[in-house]
Amino acid sequence: MSSSPWWRQAAVYQVYLRSFADGNGDGTGDIAGLRSRLPYIRDLGVDALWVNPWYVSPLHDGGYDVVDYRNIDPRFGTLDEAVAMIDEARNLGLEVMVDLVPNHTSSEHPWFREALASPPGSNPRSRYHFRTGRGPDGDTPPNDWRSVFGGEAWSRAPDGEWYLHLFDVTQPDLNWESPEVRAEFRQILRFWLERRASGFRVDVAHGLGKDPMFPDLGHIDELLTSHGGVNHPYWDRPEIHDIFREWRTILDDYPGAVMVAEAWVDTWERLALYLRPGEFHQAFDFDFLMAPWEASHMKESIDRALSGAGAVGSVPTWVLSNHDVVRHVTRYGLPDGLDAREWLLDGDRSLLDLELGSRRARAAALLMLALPGSVYLYQGEELGLAEVDDLPLEILDDPVWKRSGQKLKGRDGCRVPIPWTIGGQSLGFGVDGSWLPQPAGWGGQSVEAQDGVDGSTLGLYRSALHHRREHLLGDEILEWLDLGEEAIAFRRGSGILVVVNFGNDPIDLPAGELLLANAELVEGRLSSDSTAWIVERT
Ligand code: NOJ
Repeated sequence: MSSSPWWRQAAVYQVYLRSFADGNGDGTGDIAGLRSRLPYIRDLGVDALWVNPWYVSPLHDGGYDVVDYRNIDPRFGTLDEAVAMIDEARNLGLEVMVDLVPNHTSSEHPWFREALASPPGSNPRSRYHFRTGRGPDGDTPPNDWRSVFGGEAWSRAPDGEWYLHLFDVTQPDLNWESPEVRAEFRQILRFWLERRASGFRVDVAHGLGKDPMFPDLGHIDELLTSHGGVNHPYWDRPEIHDIFREWRTILDDYPGAVMVAEAWVDTWERLALYLRPGEFHQAFDFDFLMAPWEASHMKESIDRALSGAGAVGSVPTWVLSNHDVVRHVTRYGLPDGLDAREWLLDGDRSLLDLELGSRRARAAALLMLALPGSVYLYQGEELGLAEVDDLPLEILDDPVWKRSGQKLKGRDGCRVPIPWTIGGQSLGFGVDGSWLPQPAGWGGQSVEAQDGVDGSTLGLYRSALHHRREHLLGDEILEWLDLGEEAIAFRRGSGILVVVNFGNDPIDLPAGELLLANAELVEGRLSSDSTAWIVERT
């Protein structure tokens, strides 16, 4: 084991609380449910968990619309339960990261209510971005900025001023030029650190700065706006790094505390800025998540990450799925180049090859878990769950569905409650129903169905996490090997060889003892869409 900080090569399990385990039987996952399942997370072999927002919220955007950053929504539990959960997790050897949502509050936050009740130009309004509209009556938005969820990024207050919301209309953007906003978040950080949180996943870190001139973008991007480029009026602006440096000094008062950036930026050069000494410890590498399943693309993406992070003395943070993207079993089962988010609505279902997607997903997990750096696993990926692609339109909860003008179904399909048991009400998620329906047949992929079963995806994740701890964390060295164009292969410093076959034909493996593979070898050869870990013969 290495003596480097715990987070540099940590495996972190993402708990989407609403859909993890329901302790009180109301159909919504909660802290009680999570507490009862902590041993499951520990036994997987991860180092930490990250809990999506659990704060008081009307849940217009799954809790990313916060009313009180220092208290828990009653549907999830109480503050005492949250603190007890953190203590219990830490006693099991698990660090706990909480979600920090600094770009916007809920429109029901006391600050925003106060802002609406106060006149234009007043101090309460200065905590947000209020502007007068354009046109003779001011009834045209101040500029052409678009909400990430679709539609205009401005809505009108009753007195005629407009307020900015880069996400839903119920998520007004905070003004990070306001000293009060800065002070408030410094205190929120300390509030959770004092309650033994190990750190923060920082939501929309790349969005905190806004060009004070509020210039037009000059073009309307379709649905999802672009995330960077230099001098973008709201994404990835240079001034935001001061905020992160300030936060880092607070975290440094708490040994082992970590922050991870959710920063959708255009290049690794830009992402590396967040990882400079004195800023974030980790930043999700979404380039890897989005890379098509193809040897040269994957290899280039890994190379970019290693050199990008390495240039600032950091390591990449790998991720294949989370609560915002189509689960990778489904992505890898669709033809390259097809936008899985668009396909969800009315795409041709015959294009989806779930067997292929599952196989590739297992191979991708073994690839990711063998790379130097930290990894984040999204609940259910260890069960091999696919996106639920047939949720009825009338029950969709994600604001993306409405705001996109019903062009995108949104993210509910990756947020369906986890199957714990083969049968029973809501498959062991709770004692009654679940807030989103689970598909027929999901019991066959439940924890109960896979536990202790040879060849199961759950078993594969457990073994991989175990071997990763045992063999791969001693250093951060990766050395590429050449096994032809259809494969990527590398040696980890510890003498573990990792081979991924992206081609159609089986390939020969280097000499050594097979430690792990996602599929049986065929006459000693590694078949298509498979990864093997081999102990090198010396
Ligand atoms: C990113 C979060 O992961 C996502 O779920 C949320 O909708 C947006 N940020 C807005 O907070």
